[in-house]
Amino acid sequence: MSNFNDPKWWRQAVVYQIYIRSFADGDGQGLGDMAGITARLPHLAELGVDAIWLTPFYTSPQHDHGYDVADYLDVDPRFGTLDDFDTMLGAAHDLGIRVIVDIVPNHSSDEHVWFQAALEAAPGSAERARYLFRDGRGTDGELPPNNWQSIFGGPAWTRVPDGQWYLHLFDRTQPDFDWRNPEVGDMFEDVLRFWLDRGVDGFRIDVAHGLFKEATLRDQVITEVPEHSADSAMVERQQADEPMWDQPEVHDVYRRWHKILESYPGDRMAVAEAWTSTAASMARFIRPDELQQTFNFNWLLAPWSAESFAEVITDTLSHVAIVGATPTWVLSNHDVVRHATRYGGGPVGVARARAATMAMLALPGSAYLYQGEELGLEQVEVPQEFWQDPSALTTGVEGRDGCRVPIPWSGQVPPFGFGPGSGQPWLPQPPHWDELTVEAQAADPSSTLSFYRRALAVRREAALRAGDEVTIISSDDDVLVFSRGDLVCHVNCGSTPVTVPAGEVLLCSGDIPGAPDTATWLR
Ligand code: GLC
Repeated sequence: MSNFNDPKWWRQAVVYQIYIRSFADGDGQGLGDMAGITARLPHLAELGVDAIWLTPFYTSPQHDHGYDVADYLDVDPRFGTLDDFDTMLGAAHDLGIRVIVDIVPNHSSDEHVWFQAALEAAPGSAERARYLFRDGRGTDGELPPNNWQSIFGGPAWTRVPDGQWYLHLFDRTQPDFDWRNPEVGDMFEDVLRFWLDRGVDGFRIDVAHGLFKEATLRDQVITEVPEHSADSAMVERQQADEPMWDQPEVHDVYRRWHKILESYPGDRMAVAEAWTSTAASMARFIRPDELQQTFNFNWLLAPWSAESFAEVITDTLSHVAIVGATPTWVLSNHDVVRHATRYGGGPVGVARARAATMAMLALPGSAYLYQGEELGLEQVEVPQEFWQDPSALTTGVEGRDGCRVPIPWSGQVPPFGFGPGSGQPWLPQPPHWDELTVEAQAADPSSTLSFYRRALAVRREAALRAGDEVTIISSDDDVLVFSRGDLVCHVNCGSTPVTVPAGEVLLCSGDIPGAPDTATWLR
């Protein structure tokens, strides 16, 4: 890879997210695994990514697909063994691909030994003090300790047989740790060292803004917001009262983690999953003595509009500059509707997705890709009998399963080479994916896969050499034009063709530069 020897390799890295259950199945049980990843690494090398981020593969009952960890220091047998992990890591490094693993410090699984011990111990015990157990309200403690709601629906508290309640901001099988208890921080420092010693290049920190809650665990003040749109959701977050998120104490943890990462050779890094409400609060996670990167979710939340893209670019670049950090860009991941579908779906959605991806790849900083976006995959409507996302099971509303359908690799019928043989994967793949397999697209120069390969190659040649200075040349509702050094990126978000600036066309996301739903790179 181009920047494998760069001491700050992550600054401009293209990182490919592997959702392990759905990437590639090595043993034919219908679930992706370590052996599957190892076998498919050449696809990623050919695509031209610098690193992979692997979602949790640790021992877990899988109520939230691995984000409910029962043992942070082992591989779940469904995905392989520690040896299989080492083999995958070695094979990735041999190809010049760095490996980032997910760490889940906000909560454990209810099957973690600490939580099991807490259930057996009495209220007020040291075992309970690693989590957030509290007495309830009401005459007999029959009401939850406060009014917080779980992200997955319903109250954020579950009652145990002796009458106490424990806090879970996510599923009831995911009890939140009490980070005011130093034992918790000590345990996670050991976890970091365990994986760093094995050779991982970095961590993606799950729910990085959640570890500390306001100490009083007071009620959240709820304000009704009438209208719901992507824009109003952002405003809503900015105005919301959130005693469970983004507390200042969390930053001391990341200062300690910074020192641990720095004590290892090879420029190890961490990227925060912090759903903060403003660019300013996002930038606090990447101050020089804290984390190297944080996801810039405002880019992903922006609607298909030149003006919103320009706003996010300006806001992001100005806030990361204040703390001297590099930005990150992401359009899809395992928690959100795929961007081709968000932008309208069908051929138009895919065209727009390619164009937005080109804008992201032209910008300075690091870009995170989600498996399948290089195939132009769209969100799948998963039949209800197959739903597995805990939020869907709690609320009865379709959840995140539709962006987690296993990758089609080859062949005419499901499982499309996902695993050996004809065994079907854990979520059904749509039959029309026969045209979207890696095999079919690799043979077609106009496919989305061929486009991604070209885009990553041209990015290395043209964008990375163009410096970090971005100027927005124009942006109205319809057309965004910005320059980065001598590279110009032109995106037509409107419905009529426009003329692109003069220059050599390096890459176009569609057939005709300047056409609607098309991005063009020029020099
Ligand atoms: C993060 C993960 C998501 C998970 C949640 C709880 O947001 O990305 O998939 O459900 O944390 O761990």
